[in-house]
Amino acid sequence: MHLLVAEDYDALSRMAARLLADALRAQPRASLVLPTGNTPLGLYRELAALHARGAFDTARLHVFQLDEYLGVTPDDPRSFYGWIRRVALDPLGIEAERVVRLRGDAPDPDAACREYAAAVRDAGGFDQVVLGLGANGHLGFNEPPADPASPTRMVRLSAETLASNARYWGGEGRVPPYAVTCGMANILAARRKLLLVSGAEKRDALRRALDGPVSPESPASYLQHSGHVTVVADTAAWPWPQRGKARWSGAVGRLRRLVLAAAGR
Ligand code: F6R
Repeated sequence: MHLLVAEDYDALSRMAARLLADALRAQPRASLVLPTGNTPLGLYRELAALHARGAFDTARLHVFQLDEYLGVTPDDPRSFYGWIRRVALDPLGIEAERVVRLRGDAPDPDAACREYAAAVRDAGGFDQVVLGLGANGHLGFNEPPADPASPTRMVRLSAETLASNARYWGGEGRVPPYAVTCGMANILAARRKLLLVSGAEKRDALRRALDGPVSPESPASYLQHSGHVTVVADTAAWPWPQRGKARWSGAVGRLRRLVLAAAGR
């Protein structure tokens, strides 16, 4: 695992965009999973700027949606598909036919999840997954408790997630209570995982993800045992003292030494 701590949100976004642009340049046919939410907005802005300057090509990418509200149509601006189209797919010039949606509006959501799972299998799994972190430790809409082998499926959103997403729906009572999410199994099997974490309200979730027990109660903690993970956090979200005064211990001590080694220090 590589842990990178950025000074602030803008630095986090630039760092993540450079990492992702390098990965996409190296693998222009990648199967790529993109999240919604506030955290990756800066990444998408920076990525679009790099793309406009010719840093990488998107013509052969295949994008998979990470999660979606149940019963919300893709043309609804509050749908995750509508969101990701506005902030990432349009700016990056990615056509609808190269996107595998999670169809929260399908008459049979279980069948829609099976279709998505088949598309992931046909793609040979994910090359690159980009993730945000829920304040309750969720990845995608894999709410705690989440099994690491969980498939793509319909889920009920937790009270914490409904409260947190009320900001996007104009009130907690308006947030759709059910969703479909890519399961933990596909996320953890991805060949590269990039987790972005910003803001003090994510600090405890990040601490549990990196240094807490690996447990269904903290779905992101499974990343501790999963290869090829890069975490980019800003200092507001970083739960430990900064370098210099730090007394690293346990898993974080080992992880931190890895980061320092990767950075050549
Ligand atoms: C969104 C998603 C969620 C968010 C998480 C953080 O597609 O899958 O897991 O990444 O809830 O959301 P923000 O970034 O809005 O704090």
